[in-house]
Amino acid sequence: MRTLKRQTLCRIDIDRLNAPFLGIFESLIPTEEEKVKQKQLVTLLESIICKEWPEARLYIYGSCGNSFGVSKSDIDLCLAIGDADINKSEILLRLADLFQSDNLQNVQALTRARVPIVKLMDPVTGISCDICINNVLAVVNTKLLRDYANIDARLRQLAFIVKHWAKSRGVNETYHGTLSSYAYVLMCIHFLQQRRPAILPCLQGMRATYSVTVENIECAFFDQIDKLQDFGSHNKETIAELVWAFFNYWAYSHDYANTVISVRRGSTISKREKDWTRRIGNDRHLICIEDPFETSHDLGRVVDKRSIKVLREEFERAAEIMQYDANPCVKLFEPY
Ligand code: CTP
Ligand code: MG
Repeated sequence: MRTLKRQTLCRIDIDRLNAPFLGIFESLIPTEEEKVKQKQLVTLLESIICKEWPEARLYIYGSCGNSFGVSKSDIDLCLAIGDADINKSEILLRLADLFQSDNLQNVQALTRARVPIVKLMDPVTGISCDICINNVLAVVNTKLLRDYANIDARLRQLAFIVKHWAKSRGVNETYHGTLSSYAYVLMCIHFLQQRRPAILPCLQGMRATYSVTVENIECAFFDQIDKLQDFGSHNKETIAELVWAFFNYWAYSHDYANTVISVRRGSTISKREKDWTRRIGNDRHLICIEDPFETSHDLGRVVDKRSIKVLREEFERAAEIMQYDANPCVKLFEPY
């Protein structure tokens, strides 16, 4: 049996960690030069694609578009081709031909993957890129994450540190049953919505100023972020306190048995309400993270009996380090 620990925080002790955590955050941010190179590659790909499909549009999604991308991230792109009846495999194979003829490297069409893509690498900059077809929901959830990032700077700081921790500790690998970067960012947003006073609002619970319907799903939220610049100002928690509290929440406070975290609602909701109380097929619902738009989609579905143990032990390890270690900024990110 796990013992629930209630740990408290000594403000003076924890605040000495602000500078090192901010140092780590800053060291992970891509440089302006890197962003220019990314844009140049996207422009090159657009010009290649435009010759073949003049009506098609190329959108950036994932970490290069949502502002949670660390330096040297791959670029995730979505080719939007209006026609719903297209044969994705044919398009991906044709794209691969076109890119190969243009001297792009490591070009591969993965037509049988869960999300079929074509991969490539730019030989000049070494930047890699994955292109999928018509995954417009991902483009919309990228905007939602970017809008949240622009409300309070602490979200981006926290998410960079959590993603860096997850990659260092090997718990950011969906093919091994741990969580995607997308899931970790949602966990950070949810966590900041729950602080008292709240650091982030619930954009989907506010008057919609942005609305699109994608695959019969209405995606609507408040996106006038310039009106929310003071939203979190009543909460004075620092990044070190938030990192401490984030790991404490997932180690000792989250009710894994009964609750689902929901950025859409800005709160937790019960597993019963979603009918996520038992295993159906491969969906075990051992840690439940609701996708903000595809609400039947549990981003924790990849987690199994073995990997939930690994994850929870890693949250506990991180919480213990934040509480007791003399040098948490090193120990937290030690390779596993
Ligand atoms: N995505 C999604 N549903 C998932 C996983 C991912 O819609 N179950 C979409 C999201 O738009 C997400 C993007 O795919 O932003 C890329 O996912 P992921 O690789 O997890 O996140 P990145 O932000 O690109 O992280 P990394 O820096 O690790 O590449
Ligand atoms: Mg990515």
